[in-house]
Amino acid sequence: MHDDANDGDDGDAVWQVHAGDAGFAAPADRTVLASAEAAGLPWSNSCRNGTCRTCLRRLRSGEVAYGIEWPGVLPDERAEGWFLPCVAYPRSDLVLAADGVQVLPVT
Ligand code: FES
Repeated sequence: MHDDANDGDDGDAVWQVHAGDAGFAAPADRTVLASAEAAGLPWSNSCRNGTCRTCLRRLRSGEVAYGIEWPGVLPDERAEGWFLPCVAYPRSDLVLAADGVQVLPVT
């Protein structure tokens, strides 16, 4: 649950992220990856700028906004819930795939 007093896109909002058994607070002004790390979760990452896709995870519900104009996720992948936590900022409570790490099918 989030703090209703802090709804909106301002930097004061704090959302909740649920990923399987793990859950953590995610301030709107911090990337989802940075919040996971602050909670002690060792999420995979490398470039931290939205290009390598090492941090790719799947969103089951919720919304994120990107801190860069074109993160390395294709429109079809976005539609399926894939996102890059290293450059994504929460805009609602988020529910991620159970273990977070999933492999995209090779096409
Ligand atoms: S760490 Fe490289 S895209 Fe997120």
